[in-house]
Amino acid sequence: MNRELNGKKALITGASTGIGAATAIAFAREGASVIINYRSSEQKAREVMKKARELGAEAYVFKADVTNEAEIADLMKFIESTFGYLDVLVNNAGGLLERREITSSDLEYWRRHIDLNLTSVYLVTKNSLPLLLRSPSKERVIVNVSSIAAFTGGGRGAFAYASAKGGVKTLTRAMAKELAQHRIRVVAVMPGLIVTPFHEKAKTGDVEGWAEKQVLLKRAGSAEEVAEVIAFLASERASYVNSTEIYVDGGWMYG
Ligand SMILES: NC(=O)c1ccc[n+]([C@@H]2O[C@H](COP(=O)([O-])OP(=O)(O)OC[C@H]3O[C@@H](n4cnc5c(N)ncnc54)[C@H](OP(=O)(O)O)[C@@H]3O)[C@@H](O)[C@H]2O)c1
Repeated sequence: MNRELNGKKALITGASTGIGAATAIAFAREGASVIINYRSSEQKAREVMKKARELGAEAYVFKADVTNEAEIADLMKFIESTFGYLDVLVNNAGGLLERREITSSDLEYWRRHIDLNLTSVYLVTKNSLPLLLRSPSKERVIVNVSSIAAFTGGGRGAFAYASAKGGVKTLTRAMAKELAQHRIRVVAVMPGLIVTPFHEKAKTGDVEGWAEKQVLLKRAGSAEEVAEVIAFLASERASYVNSTEIYVDGGWMYG
């Protein structure tokens, strides 16, 4: 068994379902201790914790809304009292709350998407830094989950979501610039069409049909396929990968 994350302490936001849940399991399999953050899906978060523990990992769940700084501060206090520090932060929580075009949108719609998908990355990172800086590891890693939407402008009714994800891509590079001096690598992952509850909530419709037309591999990806890449980026196998974006999209068709 590959134990490349042995002994690492990791926080994964939005780890109750989808890509975050698969990442928590992949990290546990590779020997990391994990904090499984969630906002509303407590039962699902507990199932992820159970699976991680069955793999021999130290794992905990913690409810916190990543748009609420007071709740993020409580999350950090919990991590401080359980692990004392962090080696890896995965800023994964996010989503498309509702599809609307610009003409039928309002400021509140815009702000909800920017808050959930971009401001959250700033807030969680800022509040995690004291714990990351306390890590005894020779390198610390932040992986931000952006989206192919940052590049394409998003699907139907996703302009605010896509803009926020574009911000995450840029913020990744800005963070990498500031944090390299603290031996923190910062990388973004750009998933394409991935089968997760995201698409039920976002009412995407026929995900596989869309993938058939849009993806060179002619299929949607799985949460596990994205989690594998995140686990690689978090490990020392990726020690020279920094300030960049890795697309996990099966090959997006632009032509
Ligand atoms: N699926 C795709 O095709 C795709 C493509 C590109 C990028 N992404 C990105 O991948 C990330 C994970 O999405 P997914 O596809 O795995 O969807 P998902 O299954 O819906 O997962 C979203 C996760 O985010 C959590 N979350 C949502 N709002 C939160 C908040 N305010 N505070 C804390 N946690 C919150 C959810 O937790 P609760 O349920 O507990 O609230 C859930 O664990 C997102 O950033 C998404 O934008 C997905």
